[in-house]
Amino acid sequence: MKHIIAVGASYVDTILTADHYPSEDEKLRASSISRRRGGNCPNTLEVLEQFIDPSADDIQLHLLAVLPSKQSDATKFIRNSFMKVKFEPSGIYRNDHNEAASSYIIKSESTDTRTIVNYNELPEMTAKEFIHKAHLMSVSEEAKEGWYHFEGRIPQTTLQCIRYLRSYLRGFKISVEVEKPGREGLMEIAAEADVVFYSKSWANAQGFQTAKDCLKKQAALTQKDALLCCTWGSEGATILQKSSDGSEGWEDVEAWKLKTPGAKVLDTIGAGDTFIAGMLFALMRHSEDWTLQQKLKFANELAGRKVIQEGFGGLS
Ligand code: FRU
Repeated sequence: MKHIIAVGASYVDTILTADHYPSEDEKLRASSISRRRGGNCPNTLEVLEQFIDPSADDIQLHLLAVLPSKQSDATKFIRNSFMKVKFEPSGIYRNDHNEAASSYIIKSESTDTRTIVNYNELPEMTAKEFIHKAHLMSVSEEAKEGWYHFEGRIPQTTLQCIRYLRSYLRGFKISVEVEKPGREGLMEIAAEADVVFYSKSWANAQGFQTAKDCLKKQAALTQKDALLCCTWGSEGATILQKSSDGSEGWEDVEAWKLKTPGAKVLDTIGAGDTFIAGMLFALMRHSEDWTLQQKLKFANELAGRKVIQEGFGGLS
């Protein structure tokens, strides 16, 4: 049995769809409201669980996240949003908190973009907590080998977690997300990972105009055989497979059918999280039998299909 352990925060998203963004001090009526579980790693797991059947398959999914108390409605809501993801023993419960981290999101129909305002009062996971959980899961055979994927929330903590995995639990591949513009320390964690997912907003904030430019620069700062992925919204995605002998394999794809007439973008929240799910699945399950281009195409199509529907259901 192999394992995918996703390490990141869980959110409850309240999503208002509006015709346009309100200007400051404006009063605006939304056309719809919805509430669903969010968070980058949980979103990725929700997609992955549609492709993985732990009873028939050899992959088990785990969420290693800080959650409110076990008895709280918020934790029940989060747990009930999954069918196959394991929360024990990986869950870290904050018993004196009853509210989950929340996001209030405005989706604008005129620009097809989403603006997110977050609030989180749950104390973040510490490196000590992570090490305790990872050790426990390994010695109890809950998760002895497989894949750790990090949202990379607090880069200094993530760095300590990765170093622990590299020194003591060697059977794991490690991927990290470099998503949030302006978050200090993300390049240091990217430098340690086997696979790195760069977002367009991070790349733009670094001054890159294309995914290829971004990856060309990051190539010098990452592991000798790392796989680097950069998604570029409606422009598709590019990946670079580095190799210890210095050779480079580049692949890119256009956004999946988004440019075809009639395709309507409905929900871009979590498109990047869906792409990550697609790549993790391809890398774990089809490492040998799919080419790099096939892996990229799979992840890209999944993200493309996700944005033309609401939420993450029905993608398999
Ligand atoms: C989308 C998302 C939302 C969540 C927010 C957290 O990628 O994970 O579900 O509210 O980002 O930053």
